[in-house]
Amino acid sequence: MSSAGPSPPVPGVDSGPALAALEAARDETRARLADLVRIPGVSADGYPPAALEDSARAVAGLLSAWGLEHVEVVPHPGAPPYVVGEWCRAEGAPTVLVYGHHDVQPPGDPARWDSPPWEPTVRDGRLYGRGAVDDKAGVVSHAAALKAWLSATGGLPLNVKVVVEGEEEVGSPHLADFLRAHRERLAADCLVLTDTCNLDSGIPSLTVSLRGLAMVDVTVAVLEGPLHSGIWGGPVPDPAQALAKLLARLSDDRGRPAVPGIALPEPADPGHGTLPFDPDRFRAQGGMLEDVPLLTRGGGATYHASWDAPTIAVSAIEAGSFADAANQILPRARARVGVRLAPEQDPDAALAALTAFLQKDPPFGCRVTVTPHGASGGWRTPATGPWFAAARGALAAGYGRDPVDIGCGGSIPFVEPFSRAMGDVPALLLGVEDPACRAHGENESLSLDDFDKACRAAVHLYGALARVKPGAPPHKEPGP
Ligand code: BES
Ligand code: MN
Ligand code: MN
Repeated sequence: MSSAGPSPPVPGVDSGPALAALEAARDETRARLADLVRIPGVSADGYPPAALEDSARAVAGLLSAWGLEHVEVVPHPGAPPYVVGEWCRAEGAPTVLVYGHHDVQPPGDPARWDSPPWEPTVRDGRLYGRGAVDDKAGVVSHAAALKAWLSATGGLPLNVKVVVEGEEEVGSPHLADFLRAHRERLAADCLVLTDTCNLDSGIPSLTVSLRGLAMVDVTVAVLEGPLHSGIWGGPVPDPAQALAKLLARLSDDRGRPAVPGIALPEPADPGHGTLPFDPDRFRAQGGMLEDVPLLTRGGGATYHASWDAPTIAVSAIEAGSFADAANQILPRARARVGVRLAPEQDPDAALAALTAFLQKDPPFGCRVTVTPHGASGGWRTPATGPWFAAARGALAAGYGRDPVDIGCGGSIPFVEPFSRAMGDVPALLLGVEDPACRAHGENESLSLDDFDKACRAAVHLYGALARVKPGAPPHKEPGP
């Protein structure tokens, strides 16, 4: 990869005054981010919805205090509140929609946090706390950039709409409805998402693909209640082992999906060969145990496996608990199975294929039931044309080095339906997550150095996007 110096300054409106305002507000920006991290707005089932109301209100308060107009917490039947706001007085200039989410994942095991999840704490240049990086830093970085423009110049160089959703971490089940109901209000020439990962800390990255996700719960049932395993073991099948056999069928000996309709052939050239890759660093960032090998060789193949290929993870298994373990045959066992889909794979077809595979030939003839748990599609963009050029320039200016194009192994359900609903508008996916951030795990954290750079890049981005002609063809290079 090329590396050293940044590309030439971003052609666009002069970002100087806004950058100065951003710099002057650095402590305040960090303090407001910390305030948001204190709010436990978990969208998963079983967590108090009131905290999501709090986090929506706090985000709305920040957006309006920082100069956005028509800021509103928008209730949507059955959904955690969405927050919208805008500043749309730049006549003739393009309109961008900025997206982030204010909901967070459950905190996990409190004992595994080195500082409490809802007490933002800085250690070694990182801010620790649930949601610090996913996605509160994303939301605050862009809000801070908008505030910097507004306070320094009295306006924005383009029209900006903001939507911050509260159900991203549970697959955005009300999104399609929400988009239908608020289509006009959200219409834009370009989408800016602030919820992805950099290839590594300090390396600005433009995400050009997302994987989809199809998830099911599978239950293996045998009995009405537990039985003495001495009296009944032998004639009566064990559902826990039946589940283990079923799950073992899901992948081949290299961990690749073995489910017909989901498995894909490996390409001769996995691509991504020009991106830097250090296997030891990669393993360490994931916290992998020393004696456990990676399933892939080389950088290209590893990135391909993380971004472009399907993969299966079992995120919960339940049969009996150690606390109550007795010599029993348990009545039933269940697991949650998530399939990350290649960007182009059809999520509904994958869900059907997975369901059929799990129901075929039940081990020991046990009763197997499969309950779908949502499916959302992946996405891939050509990443060419004036909008992407503006984003690359802004990232280079903000981080002080040229950006790379990467894929993302995770999913953001908003992107594909939104982009399609708005007539294939370009989507610029940027973010401040890094491989060390442990998003979704305990000790989630944000690199504060990357956060500063991401804020600067966001200031440059609004200056650069302001120069793109509204209605410019999304993926064509600028004409002569
Ligand atoms: N910010 C992530 C998406 C992401 C993952 C970006 C990895 C960069 C790297 C987002 O909050 C997320 O976690 N999405 C869920 C979506 C799912 C519930 C449909 C995911 O990927 O599990
Ligand atoms: Mn996120
Ligand atoms: Mn997430």
